[in-house]
Amino acid sequence: MTRIICAATFAALVASAMSGPVSAESAALYNQVKIDAGKALYDGECHRCHANESEDVSYGPPLENIIGRGAGTVENYDYSIALAASGIVWTEAALRAWMEDNTGFMPGTKMRHVGIEDRTVQDFILAYLRSITTRDGAAVSEKLTKD
Ligand code: HEC
Repeated sequence: MTRIICAATFAALVASAMSGPVSAESAALYNQVKIDAGKALYDGECHRCHANESEDVSYGPPLENIIGRGAGTVENYDYSIALAASGIVWTEAALRAWMEDNTGFMPGTKMRHVGIEDRTVQDFILAYLRSITTRDGAAVSEKLTKD
C-alpha cells in the first residue's frame, strides 16, 4: 500500500515539476537564478576580454547590447576582416554557435577558440547577455554604422 501511495505521490511531483513555473514570481526567480549563474560563468570565461559596459576599456568588443546587434559594429574596434565582413546578426542561435566553436563557426576570427558545448552553460550565459541587452541591438548597430 505504501508503495502505491509513494508511486502516486512521485507521479504527482514529476507532473508538477514538468508543468514549469507555477507563478510569475517563480518565473522571475528562476530567471534571476539563471542570470546570476550566467554572470559567474561570464566572469570566468568572457569578462577578462569583454567589458559588459560599452564605455569600459575592453580587449575584445564590449558585449553590452549584443543580442540583435550586427557583428563587427562596435565603433573604433579593430575587428578581424572575417568578423567585420561576416554580415551576421548576433541572434541567440548565432551566439550559441559562437560559444560552442567560434573558430569553426568563423574561420579567421581573432578570438581564441572557446568550446562551451554544454547547453545549460550556454543558456545561463545567454540569460546574462540578455540582462545586459537593455537597448535594441539592431538600433545600436544601425546607429554605429551610420556615424
Ligand atoms: C582571450 C580573449 C577572449 C575571450 C576569453 C572571449 N573572447 Fe569573445 N572576442 C575576443 C576578441 C579578440 C574578439 C574580436 C574577434 C574578431 O575581431 O575576429 C571577440 C569577439 C566576440 C564577439 C563578437 C562581438 C561583435 O561585436 O561582433 C562575441 C559575441 C564574443 N566575442 C563573445 C564571447 C563570449 C560569450 C565569451 C565567453 C564565453 C568570449 N567571447 C570569450 C576575445 C575573447
